[in-house]
Amino acid sequence: MFKFQFNQKSRVEVPQVVPNHVGVIMDGNGRWAKKRMQPRIMGHKAGMEALHKVAKVANDMGVQVLTVYAFSTENWSRPQSEVSFIMNLPVDFYDNYVPELHKNNVKIQMIGDTDRLPEGTFTALRKAEELTKLNTGLILNFALNYGGRAEIIAAVQQIAQDVLDAKYSPDDIDEQLISDHLQTRSLPRTLRDPDLIIRTSGELRLSNFLPWQAAYSELYFTDVLWPDFDEAAFRDAILAYNKRKRRFGGI
Ligand code: IPE
Ligand code: IPE
Ligand code: MG
Repeated sequence: MFKFQFNQKSRVEVPQVVPNHVGVIMDGNGRWAKKRMQPRIMGHKAGMEALHKVAKVANDMGVQVLTVYAFSTENWSRPQSEVSFIMNLPVDFYDNYVPELHKNNVKIQMIGDTDRLPEGTFTALRKAEELTKLNTGLILNFALNYGGRAEIIAAVQQIAQDVLDAKYSPDDIDEQLISDHLQTRSLPRTLRDPDLIIRTSGELRLSNFLPWQAAYSELYFTDVLWPDFDEAAFRDAILAYNKRKRRFGGI
């Protein structure tokens, strides 16, 4: 989306091109807490507050989709007490932040193997989806119990079954068909692939986040730990995106 904003009064650099879909790998909660000599869960709590702020600024800027990696299929290997705390965060998020996001026209969706989530977690997200389903602002898309390889396996299984059922032949399998079988099919067709992926905390990897969809995403890495990632940090990421030249294989 193109936005031409010249804000002469505030002299703040305002991004001219706002990416349609931003993916965020919200990393560094544990280290943030450790630095403060607090238990890791306090980092997750602070991380939820950061997410609320970033969702608001993304919505204000006109970002259309914000996919946030909240829990990976690999994160079950963490201590049970930490997993339970994280799984309860969507319930808190629903009580504390969803009413305001709803007022601001934000639409909440989710991807991942969400039927394997604890009942309360799933219900909180379902209620948020239901409440906000007619909203037309930012789509805040939670990736919870999400794993990119698991997503691709499920898509391949479904496509193989469809071929066996003679719904189409192997020759019909193209990028569009694969995209239509991934979990991001719940997003509008032109918005499924992130334009920009942000990862906080200095780690330089994708950790199984949207491997198919990220094929041409711009990647932005910052050392800021997720709970410290605020509106200004988000704007910095968008400004950095504005300086990229996306060529998609062209010249
Ligand atoms: C990201 O922060 C949140 C989740 C993965 C759920 P971490 O918990 O991974 O924080 P670090 O990487 O240990 O600092
Ligand atoms: C990626 O962070 C998953 C989320 C942010 C939810 P991790 O902390 O789990 O990733 P690794 O283990 O450092 O790759
Ligand atoms: Mg981490």
